[in-house]
Amino acid sequence: MEKKTLFSEKTVKIGPESSTDNYIMAIESSCDETACAIVKNGREVIANIVASQIKTHEKFGGVIPEIAAREHLDSINIVVQEAFDQSGLKPDDITAFAGTVGPGLVGCLLVGLNAAKTLALVHDKPFIGVNHLNAHLCANYIDTDLKPPFMALLVSGGHTQIIDVESYSKQTILGETIDDAVGEAYDKVARLIGLPYPGGPRLDKLAQEGNPKAFELPISKVGGYDFSFSGLKTAVLRLVKSFDGKELPVNDICASFQECVSKTLVKKLKKAVEEHGYKQIVIAGGVAANSEIRKKVFALENDGYKVFAPAMKYCTDNASMVASCAYFNTNTFDDIDIEVFSRV
Ligand code: KG4
Ligand code: ZN
Repeated sequence: MEKKTLFSEKTVKIGPESSTDNYIMAIESSCDETACAIVKNGREVIANIVASQIKTHEKFGGVIPEIAAREHLDSINIVVQEAFDQSGLKPDDITAFAGTVGPGLVGCLLVGLNAAKTLALVHDKPFIGVNHLNAHLCANYIDTDLKPPFMALLVSGGHTQIIDVESYSKQTILGETIDDAVGEAYDKVARLIGLPYPGGPRLDKLAQEGNPKAFELPISKVGGYDFSFSGLKTAVLRLVKSFDGKELPVNDICASFQECVSKTLVKKLKKAVEEHGYKQIVIAGGVAANSEIRKKVFALENDGYKVFAPAMKYCTDNASMVASCAYFNTNTFDDIDIEVFSRV
């Protein structure tokens, strides 16, 4: 595709059809990670810098948006400089600058998006605004030769979707959660059983030590490709209460919860890929780092599917996926006046 530089309005070719190498610098700041990356031709990571705020938010048991936005302000220039240092590239070597537009925390998004717009303006390069969810999917293009069409399961802190990816820019959401997202359910259940923030990865770790058959938890009966996790969360609450203050079999509760979630997700993913006749399956988003979900999705390779999952560091929020998304043009925005948005 053709993109215009911001002042001189020169045309620059970006994407797989470009005859010259593309180096896209991207910034991601939608939640509690300030990240900057440079990616060559959508697949090769030249620099990947992530400043995590976990330590800051740990003591509050969750992300405090106002504090997160201020911390992005403190970190943004540092991560950009580190990305240049790590890559050995100069601003003029960059083909275009990209930034996450949404969904996310508005105050947080504003910091990263304005930094990306400013870099594009100052260095007279094209600006590309990116949707955070599309970026999660594009994490699967990094270090692989994956090409659409494929069926994707997107599981993050805010979203749970099955997406039919027909081409780099044509995607259809086939189903999504009608209440809690998977990551949200993980974090809420983790809090219920007394695990500190961020709960998801900690719950995953304990689940690996427990018995997945210890407790039978309800699998939601919501139809089609949609999901529901609020009933499961309530069932865990009831289970915890039934111990009446006695010591909880934490590992077994974690394992049983994880078994129920992973079974539900994989059942619908399998149905979607079978019904659409695709051969490739992709998982993406922070929860794609989950050990049991990965195991069960990769087991679908025994049925003849090719499964893709991002490396762990590209599952949770990072800027390499944003740069890859900008390159492959998956529903991006060119307008420098584009405003941040909190929800889809
Ligand atoms: O994609 P992400 O980094 O941020 C959003 O865009 O939401 O996802 C964060 C979510 C959190 O809910 C976190 O608890 C969850 O991903 N998560 C996990 C694991 N690693 C991260 N959940 C379960 N198991 C994991 N290993
Ligand atoms: Zn995310």
